[in-house]
Amino acid sequence: MFLNKFYITTPIYYVNAEPHIGHAYTTIAADILARYHRMKGYKVFFSAGTDEHGIKIEKKAKQQNKKPKQFTDEISAKFQLAFSELNITNDCFTRTTEKKYTKVVQKVLQYMYNKGDIYLGKYEGLYCVGCEQYKSEKDLINNKCPDHQIKPEKVSEETYLFRMSKYQDVLLKKIETDEFKIRPISRKNEIISFYKKEGLKDISFSRKNVKWGIPLPWDKKHTAYVWADAFVNYLTALGWQGFKSEWKKNMWPPDIHLMGKDILRVHATIWPAMLLSLNVALPKLLFSHGFFLVNGQKMSKTIGNVITPDDLIEKYGVDATRYLLISATSFGHDGDINLEWFDKKYNADLANGLGNLVARSIKLAQLSVENKTAAGHLSVLTDRCPAAVLFFIQKSWTEYEKQFNQIKLNEVIKLINKQIKYVDNYITVEKPWELIKNKNNKISEVLCNILEHLRHITLMVWPFMPETAEKIYKSLGLDCGEEMKKKLKDVIKTEKKTVFTTTQDSPILFPRI
Ligand code: ME8
Ligand code: MG
Repeated sequence: MFLNKFYITTPIYYVNAEPHIGHAYTTIAADILARYHRMKGYKVFFSAGTDEHGIKIEKKAKQQNKKPKQFTDEISAKFQLAFSELNITNDCFTRTTEKKYTKVVQKVLQYMYNKGDIYLGKYEGLYCVGCEQYKSEKDLINNKCPDHQIKPEKVSEETYLFRMSKYQDVLLKKIETDEFKIRPISRKNEIISFYKKEGLKDISFSRKNVKWGIPLPWDKKHTAYVWADAFVNYLTALGWQGFKSEWKKNMWPPDIHLMGKDILRVHATIWPAMLLSLNVALPKLLFSHGFFLVNGQKMSKTIGNVITPDDLIEKYGVDATRYLLISATSFGHDGDINLEWFDKKYNADLANGLGNLVARSIKLAQLSVENKTAAGHLSVLTDRCPAAVLFFIQKSWTEYEKQFNQIKLNEVIKLINKQIKYVDNYITVEKPWELIKNKNNKISEVLCNILEHLRHITLMVWPFMPETAEKIYKSLGLDCGEEMKKKLKDVIKTEKKTVFTTTQDSPILFPRI
């Protein structure tokens, strides 16, 4: 295992309908974490993809008079397009309908079958097609799945079962001791109580009357349960093709599986049980964020109450969309979404906050050069910045890392805004425009402080709004690409000379709405 490696995954999304901002949310959050770790000099692998089998998709294709393959091609392409528009830096994109993928799934299931972990039996119970998950009465509200507002079907058929019960005790222990970590803590407790109250029961791993799936290699009348199929993506993403294959073994196990709470339980039960069956190390951390709600109801493709990423990108641009979505709720908790709030937040934080600070700072520097109170190139030796400013910057970086380590992404955003306010306030107090007018030579020091602090803010902004950060860097006469290639600890080091050149006008970053 590499010491500084970071493998992060998003769920692979069902292609029953086009992506909405819930999928964008998880994927942007994963991208921010991936970028942050790259910035810290980690070796990063970031996987994403689409989950394309199962009854839900089979039905949806039929409704649209399309062959499942054609239908999944179309929707998967839309997910890929949305993610590339959002500037997502995933290292791979898995499609579960690819031949090379289905072969690996067959290998996995065959292995488990040969081992005796999969056996023929009968399953009777409830199944929610929206979730593609088996349900107990306790999961329902008014007999309906609360997330999808549909009544689960009664299923009763011959099936191959996965002997999940066998792994109950080992898994519960690993969860309790955090060897297999689940966060937030409230979710960990829910999972523990599920293990204790309901326990791991053997689970149906094949369907006879679902055609759109991967046939079991030893009994082609059955197709694999869509989750048994989908989970394997986390392995194949690293090139895993079976036990003797060449793969990026050093990147395993996943450092974070990121997801919404709708799929935490399956990730905390079926998936680690499969890994134990395969003798593969468990992921380090499952992290579940909350739901975007619309009037208290989960935003869902199945329900259709959706806002799409394009709706936001058209109005606010890509970076602001990334920013607004991550600011929208406290990471790990649900939040009701509404468009007015986005407008307000955009104006307050981006147009009046960051955008205004950049414009103001660059203008002051230019004015100062015109009035010959500062050289066209302002160089700053950061160790000569006043101790108070340096202290504040260093403290902010410590706090920044701390919040990132706890995956409190919206707290990181708050921290950035706190600094924007700090510099704004510094400008108000120092009144540099008066220093310029009076040709007071304190102006160079004041400008250096402003620009140096802005440089740090820009670096902090980068994982969230990479294009904006790059634009600000350019306006400061710095090369973002070069800085980002260095490790964060080098970039923020204090004994360092930075030369700012602010002769170019800064672009309007966030026009007011
Ligand atoms: O479950 N708010 O796919 P899926 C926040 N294929 N996030 C949301 C959301 C909302 N309202 N709605 C969806 C599947 N998400 C399986 C996964 S992984 C091996 C297989 C996000 O298309 C969130 O990440 O139903 C949630 O967990 C995921 O989309 C579910 O996507
Ligand atoms: Mg879903």
